[in-house]
Parts: sequence; structure tokens; C-alpha cells
Amino acid sequence: MTNLAPIDLRSDTVTRPDEQMSAAMAAAEVGDDVLDHDPTMRALEERVAKLLGATAALWVPSGSMGNLISLMLHLQRGDRFLAPHGSHVLAYEFGSAAWLAGGMPQPLEWNAGPGRPTPETVRGHGDSGYDTLRTTLLCLENTHNSAGGAVTPPHEHAQLAAAAREKGLRIHLDGARIWNAAIALGLPPAALTVGVDSVQACLSKGLGAPVGSVIAGSEDFISEARRVRRMLGGGVRQGGVLAAAGLVALDRIDALSVDHDNARLLAEGLADHGWSVTTPQTNIVLAAVPDVALSLERLSAVGVHAVSMSGQIRFVTHRDVSTADIKEALHRIEEARI
Ligand SMILES: Cc1ncc(COP(=O)(O)O)c(C=O)c1O
Repeated sequence: MTNLAPIDLRSDTVTRPDEQMSAAMAAAEVGDDVLDHDPTMRALEERVAKLLGATAALWVPSGSMGNLISLMLHLQRGDRFLAPHGSHVLAYEFGSAAWLAGGMPQPLEWNAGPGRPTPETVRGHGDSGYDTLRTTLLCLENTHNSAGGAVTPPHEHAQLAAAAREKGLRIHLDGARIWNAAIALGLPPAALTVGVDSVQACLSKGLGAPVGSVIAGSEDFISEARRVRRMLGGGVRQGGVLAAAGLVALDRIDALSVDHDNARLLAEGLADHGWSVTTPQTNIVLAAVPDVALSLERLSAVGVHAVSMSGQIRFVTHRDVSTADIKEALHRIEEARI
């Protein structure tokens, strides 16, 4: 236990609505989004569809549900889908891709860079035949969480999409942190969705909304997705209260660059203290330590909170930790000789 103020670097999901966001939620114009229509939900969905370069979009309560709905629509029972090793859909969604969407997962190695397979790897696994599994989907993740927030640049994305198309695969993009990828690259988010059939993007991570993700795709895909969302119990009535938070969150995409600067500051400071860290491209820092559980305990004892991921320690910067907090965290780590 410590009396030091906690510095919570476990995830960018820990952010809380600030006054401006709470006021927007309180003032939201609402309707019944399951019965017919909630105007604030519609405004949010239209805005996100444009941002992601799609014709339609649908609010969903979580990124996991957004991925699940997409996979349920893309896969038939027993279809194989390809996804980079350690992807959220493979490792952190409780097997829903198999359990509920009926997919056979095929993890792909990261032979193009952190979190990214090569197009040859996609081609090599993309076959379907009379006496083999039917492979129907490539599921990408940008940024890739367990690869330390690694960014797939648009030319590589295009090559992966082309390889998938060559094999007749559909493409889903888990863009939980697509906003971070876009800011890191200095590109509009739509530049990173070229050629995909669906994309899931979170409002509740670095952008700071308390709840919500959006899936985007064609009109037909989204109208089917609306039915599946209802089936899963993900339709919300006066959802405008939540969509209002999402609209404020979307005004904050540019501010993610501060989180990226803070992640670099943290990584450099840790490296100066002798830690083995990868240079972050976005807001996630992975540090390799000999004993993850022990290091997490020692960090926690000085009020610095992180989690274990991919056998390393994961720190995530976000809008509720300032540059001063990062310097304070580094100071505590140095003082305690962690
Ligand atoms: C890459 C990625 N996809 C999907 C999700 C799931 O989002 P949610 O926690 O809203 O279900 C996460 C959550 O951390 C994530 O990092």
C-alpha cells in the first residue's frame, strides 16, 4: 500500500468523462434507437462512417461486440479466418470468434514487423479446397495492441488487402485504436481502411468516451449488423446519451499526439534507468523484465499501475495522465530502483 497518488497506466480505457463530455451527455437529444431512431446516435454514426471512409456505420457497446458482430456476418460455421498472432480477436475475446461466430482461427506470424504478417504469409494460408478447410476472412489489427501499439502503414495494409482479395477472402479491420495509427502516420483514418469490408473503431479508449465503439461498412453490411446487435442484446434505447459522449470524443483525435509524446518520454526514461523497452509508435510501451509479476508488484507499491501483456509489462498513456505524471512515475521508479 502507498499514500502516493496513483498513476494509472494499465490502459487507455480508464479515462473518465470530463465536464465537457458529461454536459454533452446530459444535454443529448434522444429517441428510442431500438424502436426507430435516436438522432444523436444517427449523427454519431454518420460522422464515423465518413471518417472511416465507409457508407454506413453502427454504434455498438464495445469493441469486442463490434468484432464479434463483424465476424458473425463474415464467417459461416467451420470457416477458417486468418489473424496476426496475438490479435485481440484471437487472444482476448474469450474465444467468441470460435464459440459464437463459428470460425477456425489461424494465427499468422509477424514476419513483416511487429503485429504484421507479409502478403506472402496471407497467400500461403489463404487456400480453400474440396478436402481442406474453407478460408474466408483476414482479420487485421491497427494499431496492434499486444505488439505494443504497432502501426501498419497504408502501403503494407494495401498489400495485405490485395493478397487477401487474390485468395477471395473478406477483410475485417480491428481498428480499436485506428485513431492512434492515423495520428502517428499524419493521415486521415480513412487512409487506413482502404479495401476492407468492415472496420471496428473504439470511442472508449484514447478518445475518452465511457462506452462505445462503431463498426463501419456497406449499407447492407450495417443493416445486417443492426439485426445481429439486437440479437446479442446490444441495442440501447436512449443511446443518444452515449453517442453524445462519442461525438465529443471524436473532437479529440488530434490530442492523441500528446499521449504518443508521453509514451516516448516514458520509454526513454525507462531505458535510461536500464529497462529493456521498445520504442513506441503510439501510446503503448512494452517493457521486458525478468519477473513480470514481481515488477508489477513493485510498481504498484509506488502507485504506478501497469499490466502484464505478451510476457512483458504494458504501460498505456492516455488523456488522464499528464506529462508531469509521466515524469513523476519515472521519478518514483528511479527512487525505488525498480
Ligand atoms: C485491439 C483491440 N480490439 C478490441 C478491443 C475490445 O474493446 P472493448 O474493451 O471495448 O470490448 C480492445 C480492447 O482493449 C483492443 O485493444
